[in-house]
Order: sequence, then structure tokens, then C-alpha cells
Amino acid sequence: MATIRLGDEAPNFTAETSEGKIDFHDWLGDSWGILFSHPADYTPVCTTELGTVAKYKAEFDKRNVKVVALSVDGLESHHGWIKDINETQNTIVNFPIIADEDKKVSELYDMIHPNADSNLTVRSVFVIDNNKKVKLIITYPASTGRNFDELLRVIDSLQLTAYHKVATPANWQNGDDCVVVPAVATADIPSLFPKGHKEVKPYLRMTPQPNLD
Ligand code: BEZ
Repeated sequence: MATIRLGDEAPNFTAETSEGKIDFHDWLGDSWGILFSHPADYTPVCTTELGTVAKYKAEFDKRNVKVVALSVDGLESHHGWIKDINETQNTIVNFPIIADEDKKVSELYDMIHPNADSNLTVRSVFVIDNNKKVKLIITYPASTGRNFDELLRVIDSLQLTAYHKVATPANWQNGDDCVVVPAVATADIPSLFPKGHKEVKPYLRMTPQPNLD
């Protein structure tokens, strides 16, 4: 298992999922992706998480993001549990869940942290851009459900940097002013950011969020 770091290519794999076999890179295609693990099927926190992700599909689609979940349970377990998620979370699971019984993908992505649990995956999240590069890695403990609004916020920030040459300041929310990335020369700001900018310091240049009307 190699350490995966930001900027690395997301390792490819093939896997059985609740929606059929996938080759991860082929499945991603030109989309951004989220690969996230949860400890086990038929567990309470995971049930709420997967239901929440299903309800956020329109938000992920809007951002050209495909989502795939993973646990070390098998396909039969996934299919039974999906029925429970649909029933209890009032939704329809609309993304694949990898059945990683042989732990091939969990080990490839270092999702098992033996001092937390020797057999089950922790709550890992990998955000992968449309060039298959890893852009975000976060790890939550089994007992804490993830904040998927925060995940959308980070994806918005990553896409602003990728497409608009801005970064986002502390506690940034959609609509707030952004930071012009240091690689942009101050002389180039007026043409690149026609909405205007404020030079607080030579290294701190703020501009209105560029992708809003
Ligand atoms: C859960 O997945 O629901 C869970 C796992 C470990 C501790 C508490 C909750």
C-alpha cells in the first residue's frame, strides 16, 4: 500500500458494486469523483450518511461529481441494506456501493486504520478531480457522521481554484469574496477579474466570487 497524497493520481481498481462491476477510472470518465468508505452495512450512522448522499444527488450533478461508497460487506448485504436506507431515510440510493470483501480497495486507499478497528474501514473521503488527481483527503471516526454540506463547500472551493484562479478564505461560503491565487500577478488582475478587486496587502488580493452573476 503506497501512501496517497494530494496531487497524486487516484489509484485505479476494478470492483463489484451494487450497480455492477466498475473500472474506477472508466467509471469516473471526465467527471470529478468522491470515493468514501463507511465501517459497515446495517449500522446507524452509515444509514443516515448514505441516505443524505442520495438526497444530495442534484447538488453533486450540478458540480459534475460522481459518488461511490465502499464498505467491506458483500453485495447481498449491500442490496438488503439499500432497501433499509430507502425506507428509513425516505430516499432512493442512487449511487454505487463497492463490495470490498477482499479489502483490495480499502487497502489500496489505506481506509483501514488498525488501531481504530483492525477489520473495518474508517470514514475516509477522497475527492478526485476531472484529471483523476486526488484533491482532498479527510478521515472521520466511525462514530461521527460526515458533514456533506462541508464536502460540497470544499468541492466548490476546489472548482473555483481549478476554473477561476481563486482560492477561498477561512470559513468561506458560496457568495463570499474570494482570494486571488498568488500565482496571478497583480498587473493581470483587472483583466482576469473584471468585477474588481481589493489589494489588502500585496499578497492578499480579494475579489468577488467570479462564477456568480
Ligand atoms: C455506525 O456506523 O453507525 C457506528 C459505528 C461505530 C460506532 C458508532 C456508530
